[in-house]
Amino acid sequence: SESGGSGSSGSGGSDGGLTMGFAQVGAESGWRTANTKSIQDTAKSEGVDLKFSDAQQKQENQIKAIRSYIQQKVDVIAFSPVVETGWDTVLLEAKRAKIPVILTDRSVDSKDDSLYETFLGSDFVQEGEKAGDWLVENADESDVDGDGSIKVVELEGTTGAAPAIDRKEGFGSKIAADDSIEVVASQTGDFTRDGGKKVMETFLKSEKGIDVVYAHNDDMGLGAIEAIKAAGMKPGTDVKIITVDAVKDGMTALSKGEINFIVECNPLLGPQLMDLAKKVVDGEEVPKRVVTEETTFDQEQAAEVLDQRQY
Ligand code: AHR
Repeated sequence: SESGGSGSSGSGGSDGGLTMGFAQVGAESGWRTANTKSIQDTAKSEGVDLKFSDAQQKQENQIKAIRSYIQQKVDVIAFSPVVETGWDTVLLEAKRAKIPVILTDRSVDSKDDSLYETFLGSDFVQEGEKAGDWLVENADESDVDGDGSIKVVELEGTTGAAPAIDRKEGFGSKIAADDSIEVVASQTGDFTRDGGKKVMETFLKSEKGIDVVYAHNDDMGLGAIEAIKAAGMKPGTDVKIITVDAVKDGMTALSKGEINFIVECNPLLGPQLMDLAKKVVDGEEVPKRVVTEETTFDQEQAAEVLDQRQY
């Protein structure tokens, strides 16, 4: 730990003094599983008493969990809001109870930023931009049927979720630079493999000449791969695939040539979260926004790092 102060522990930490209530989105994706594990493992190693709940992708369940953490008088509440809007009432309740709140992974859309201490997570707009930049740079190869237009189908994340809204926006802003690139269909697959598969099956029936799939996460892209194979085509060759996350299964598919490009979204937020929580509970200043560092992978890069991926 980085508390360099003199003598024995000051902040939370190994004295076991800190209780955190964490309201997780669900278990919708490989990313989420890795995120949950990182939070639970770090709580354990840092001596944080973690109360954890899985909302099964339902906002009302997260609100219930947060209310129960308020009642239990935890020291700090952390959560990844499943959707962006509709949090002000419950966050105000936490504020009145003087329980600090940390947003992790996803943010809320609220006019009042005094309702939370800090937001730790990725820049989802930038992730979408990286995906769009890649397509613009690789436009020639991405016109698979060579008809002069690049038809993209988009598999969106959970409707109303920050990463779905922002990844769409970032991608759209970049592909606007090339008139030949067009999103011909866009629908939610709810960030799940099954959702991605089902939506892709309907796209393959309704759209002719799909060149590219842009999936807001690896799991939906992996579902799309199944649908593309079932339709007798070769994913990564007959249809180019761009995804976000870089979990092990996604990276494996990328290194095998079934995905073409992955934008990384780092789920290992546990260490930074516990560090911020201790500081917040100790009344220390923390930055209002902490952005996760991330990279991108093409097929060669994925093959090189596959063995070292932790999740
Ligand atoms: O909020 C992060 C997103 O949520 C991940 O990209 C996705 O896989 C997860 O379900």
